Formats: sequence, C-alpha cells, structure tokens
Amino acid sequence: MSVIAVFLSVVVIVAGSPSPHADYIEELIRTNAFGGRISDNILEDATLDLPDLVRKYNYPFEEHFVTTEDGYILGMHRIPHGRVSYNVSGDRPVVFLMHGWPTSSSDHVIMGPGSGIAYILADEGYDVWMGNTRGNSFSRKHISLNPDVPRNGFWEFSWDEIGERDLPAMIDYALQHTGRSALHYIGFSQGTTVFFVMGSLRPEYNKKIISMHAMAPVAYMEHVKDHIFTKIAPYGRDLMTLASLLGIEEILSHHEIFTLLGRLFCIDGAKTQPFCSAIIFLIAGWNENQHNASTIPIILGHTPAGCSVKQMAHFGQSITDKEFRRYDFGLLQNLQKYGTPIPPSYDLSKVTAPVFLHYSEGDPLAVVADVDRLFKELGRPMGKFKVSQSTFSHVDFMWGIDAKKMVYDKVINFMRLMDLKN
Ligand SMILES: *[C@@H]1O[C@H](CO)[C@@H](O)[C@H](O)[C@H]1NC(C)=O
Ligand SMILES: *[C@@H]1O[C@H](CO)[C@@H](O)[C@H](O)[C@H]1NC(C)=O
Repeated sequence: MSVIAVFLSVVVIVAGSPSPHADYIEELIRTNAFGGRISDNILEDATLDLPDLVRKYNYPFEEHFVTTEDGYILGMHRIPHGRVSYNVSGDRPVVFLMHGWPTSSSDHVIMGPGSGIAYILADEGYDVWMGNTRGNSFSRKHISLNPDVPRNGFWEFSWDEIGERDLPAMIDYALQHTGRSALHYIGFSQGTTVFFVMGSLRPEYNKKIISMHAMAPVAYMEHVKDHIFTKIAPYGRDLMTLASLLGIEEILSHHEIFTLLGRLFCIDGAKTQPFCSAIIFLIAGWNENQHNASTIPIILGHTPAGCSVKQMAHFGQSITDKEFRRYDFGLLQNLQKYGTPIPPSYDLSKVTAPVFLHYSEGDPLAVVADVDRLFKELGRPMGKFKVSQSTFSHVDFMWGIDAKKMVYDKVINFMRLMDLKN
C-alpha cells in the first residue's frame, strides 16, 4: 500500500470525529465565556467595524497591509491566537483564509465565536490570517490609481489577477512575518477559484501550501442551473458593453444602506424578515435548516464588500463557455494578451498542492458534476467530502448553523494530519 493510501485510510477514519479541541470550545460556549454562541448583540455586531467586532469578543486582532507587484494595497487581517490564552506549545501553524464573492474577511467572523471559522481555528491553536481581494472595502487602495476616478485602470481586473498577484503577495507576507515556509489554505467559493488560478499560473506557490481546503469549490460552472446567474450570464458581453458605456466598473460595494436596510427590515420581529431570507436563498440556494434569520442584520452590516464588474463577468464566462479559463477580452485583445483567439484554460494538473474538496448536493453554484470534474483534473487531489446533509447550501459553508459540526471539524482534523506529516 502506498503512503498516500495509508494516509487516506486514516483520513477516512478521522473525517467523522470532532476536532481535537471541540470539547474545549463547547465548554467555553456552555460556560458562556464567549457571551453566548453566535452573536450576543445583533445590532451592535451589525454596526461595529471588523477590528472592533473581533476585539469585542476578546480575540487579538491585527491589521496588515501588503502591496502587490502591480501596486494594489491589500488589507490583511490576523487573529494570532485564541481568546483564552489557550496554548498549544506556543508554536502555531499558520492558516490563511480566503473569502468568497463579493465579500471580505468578515465572512469568517461575523457569525461570532464558536461559529465563525476564524475564531474556531484560533482556539484550535492556529495563527489565523485572512486575505482581502483587491477592490473590496479593505483593499480599495493603490499606490497610484484612484478607485473613485472612472476609467483610470483601477478596476481593470477579474479573479484572474486576484489569483495571479494578490494571493502570492499575501501568502508571502504571512510566511515572511511568521518565519514559516508553508501554510494551510482554506478558501470559500471564489476563495477556491483564485487558489486554482494561482496554482496553475504560479505553480511555484504549491510548495508553500501544507494543505488546501476548498469549501464550496468553484472552478467549472458548466452545470450551474436553475440559478439567477444562469439567466444573466448569456447577456454578459452585452452587459459589459453597457457597463463600460455607463462608466460602471465597481459593483456591490459596501454601503451604509445595506446596514440600514438590515436594521429596518431584517431584524427579529420585522414582518419583512422572510423576504430578506428569500433574497439570500435566491443567490445562495435554499436551505432553511442552516439559515439563522436573526443574523441577517449582521450579514448586511458587513456584506457585500465590493468587487469589479469584470469579476462577475468572468464567472459569467465560466457558465456560458463551460470551461475554466482566463478572462475573455474578445478576439483582438485575446490575441494581444495571450497570443490565442480564445483565452487559455487554467492547467489544473499544475495545482500540485494537496487539495481537499468539501461540497454538497444542495449547492447550486458548486454543482456535484463540476466538483467531480475539478477533482479529476487537479494535480494532487487528496479527497472529496460531501456534506452529510443534502440540503446544505452554498453560504452554509460560511454561515450555516451547523457548519462547524458538518465541515470545519473535518477540515481541522485533516490539517492536523498534514501537520504531523510535515
Ligand atoms: C440564531 O442567532 C441568534 C442570535 O445570535 C442566537 O441567539 C440563536 O441561538 C441562533 N439560533 C441557532 C439555531 O443557532
Ligand atoms: C503559553 O505557554 C507558555 C509556556 O507554557 C507560557 O509561558 C505562556 O504564558 C502561555 N501563553 C499564554 C497566552 O497563556
């Protein structure tokens, strides 16, 4: 039996057990050390900014800035250790978290201690780093380009550039700052897309990854169906033309209006709350089991966080073209940029980092058939793990009531195994 086969057998056994410090975390929740599970004050958590929100729950929080090779200034967030001086030998492996679209590092914390994956990992003894994509509210800066001046080039990027330039810059920074040579990577949705882009365009980064956990992995989108995006995608090119005529380059940027709408219409007791849930379900798949409607004001207090129009258009291309390839600029510009009329595909066999895929039957955006194809083409797939609850949906990987039990515990166990192996 090969080493990998032995390893995978262990993996299968470990997959079902709670994370090593699950009892400890449960105990903290039980004794109310966190001030309750999830949020202890919805309106407060909806209005606090991210650093204050994390500090309110007594976790250490650091903000770092990284400049990419093309001048974008990205805000990185760090929770260097758990809340109650919890100490695993003081030597903490580094884990890097990458958010989805069109959100921010707030994805990993807004559900509160005991539920947000960043807190859980910190309490499990990890040094937690969180990235932010160029253009979102924490990374809306550049050494020379102004995001508020139309057509000056700031918004000329899709998730291709995020994978090729932002991720390497942030990963190098986290490694350098901690004096390590490799880290764990956990991506959600677009946070997985950009990882696969990096692994194929910058393959030298694969060796800096101890393990990669793709939650709701998005690469191929051929089988995305019955979804609002599939209705829009065929008009992608026309919409891009229209957007450019109108000078629209940025969409879904964070605005007080979302916070306000959340407070007025989505709070517990508001008759309109089911409507708020319905909008989330429309985009992210229907699953009432995992949805805690009380938390919508917190979500809207921090989400969306902004992105470029091209980021969305690139996903549209994945849906209509049924391939996972670089941004399609149109024939002439493609020839200029890539030397081919059609953009080149991302070569997934070059993604040689050990990748674990976590997915669900109920996810309308990371469809099982597409996940299977991704799994087959990856350079070093370690395993694919379907969530036991078939209705578990896209955002449930981040905000689901049982995300810890159904997904994170498994992820943490795999990370420990990979740490042992290292
Ligand atoms: C939903 O969120 C509220 C507010 O944080 C919390 O009190 C409640 O326990 C949560 N419900 C579930 C089922 O987790
Ligand atoms: C961690 O453990 C070390 C050595 O056991 C101890 O000196 C230190 O105070 C602990 N740190 C925290 C934050 O509890």
